[in-house]
Amino acid sequence: MKRNILITGGAGFIGSHVVRLFVNKYPEYRIVNLDKLTYAGNLENLKDLEQKENYCFERADICDFERVLAIFEKYEIDGVIHLAAESHVDRSIKDPFTFARTNVMGTLSLLQAAKHYWNGNWEGKRFYHISTDEVYGALELSHPEGVEPPFSTTASSSEHHLAYGDKFFYEDTPYNPHSPYSAAKASSDHFVRAFHDTYGLPTIVTNCSNNYGPYQFPEKLIPLFINNIRHRKPLPVYGKGENVRDWLYVEDHARAIDLIFHKGRVADTYNIGGFNEWKNIDLIRVIIRTVDRLLGNPEGASLDLITYVTDRAGHDMRYAIDSSKLQKELGWEPSLQFEEGIEKTVKWYLENQEWMDRITSGEYEKYYDDMYKNR
Ligand code: NAD
Ligand code: TYD
Repeated sequence: MKRNILITGGAGFIGSHVVRLFVNKYPEYRIVNLDKLTYAGNLENLKDLEQKENYCFERADICDFERVLAIFEKYEIDGVIHLAAESHVDRSIKDPFTFARTNVMGTLSLLQAAKHYWNGNWEGKRFYHISTDEVYGALELSHPEGVEPPFSTTASSSEHHLAYGDKFFYEDTPYNPHSPYSAAKASSDHFVRAFHDTYGLPTIVTNCSNNYGPYQFPEKLIPLFINNIRHRKPLPVYGKGENVRDWLYVEDHARAIDLIFHKGRVADTYNIGGFNEWKNIDLIRVIIRTVDRLLGNPEGASLDLITYVTDRAGHDMRYAIDSSKLQKELGWEPSLQFEEGIEKTVKWYLENQEWMDRITSGEYEKYYDDMYKNR
């Protein structure tokens, strides 16, 4: 079946994996990547798709309603996968306005454009909003008496669920965001659901845990630390490094998005996660060990780079998401063990040092002008 799908934020980390998956897997679809190319957008992430006939790029701001509507009309869009957002918690603490503008008003502008263009003809249409587990708030660290964390839990169907507590985020967990980033994402999730409930727009929302893998902007923990180890720069660990995150390989998230876009129930919500909790400091030690080994450094050579710094304001202690609903209803599960995923990720960053260097030097921002402007 022919489809015209708008993917927003496709030049970012997760978006680039989703665009690549859809362009390659569905040659009969036309995939339109709409991205403003903020500092986090990098068209070099999608170099391999530039010649594909079913791929188009539009540089636009999701907040620009008229422009977004014109793009719906130009490409006769029948499906939306919305990833464009400001995504870094530390930046949201310094500049909450930009987060409210893009994540809330930008999402509203897309919703309005979809509602206006589809005009009540919802048959075959889909508005799929990508969100985060951070909207659910923070969990405590806790463990059964006499058991050292992380411990295995039966909370999910996964055999590999390592946990730092007995509470989890479920699809019906009440929202309780703490950072300006998660508050803005929570607000956008509410708007998406309100557009279904009020106008009947066929929406889906998914909330996913921390992603890792190739093409992640080096302000986030894993790529930042890999790059700093390579340059023997300090590794700033917030607080005591005790905070816990659940990590999912980005291609597994992209596969879940594909499945849910095609098979998910309209008006429903699915949690997506790796059943893979790590205390930051333990994760950091794994990264150090892997980078040192792959660089041929003696074991533990980079441990001295660990530098404890002032904690992030309002730093959420633990995120732990239960994705059994997605596993049971749609048959998705993470394909990679964490050890494999980390090995692949570190290798990718070490083999693609030019990609990283062009970001840290700022060269990547010229790519659009060099390659696209006069097309
Ligand atoms: P990212 O920061 O790497 O990419 C965001 C993209 O959005 C960039 O290409 C940027 O140019 C674009 N963008 C920003 N503002 C825009 C605007 N006003 N108009 C058009 N484009 C704009 O983010 P990511 O990590 O790939 O996250 C993608 C989505 O997934 C976000 O909605 C985020 O909340 C969600 N999410 C991320 C994670 C994670 O671990 N990274 C986990 C769960 C959910
Ligand atoms: P991050 O990658 O920013 O993702 P998020 O805040 O959305 O979970 O951070 C992951 C964890 O690592 C988080 O607990 C904050 C911590 N962190 C550090 O300790 N040092 C750093 O330099 C960064 C960027 C993050």
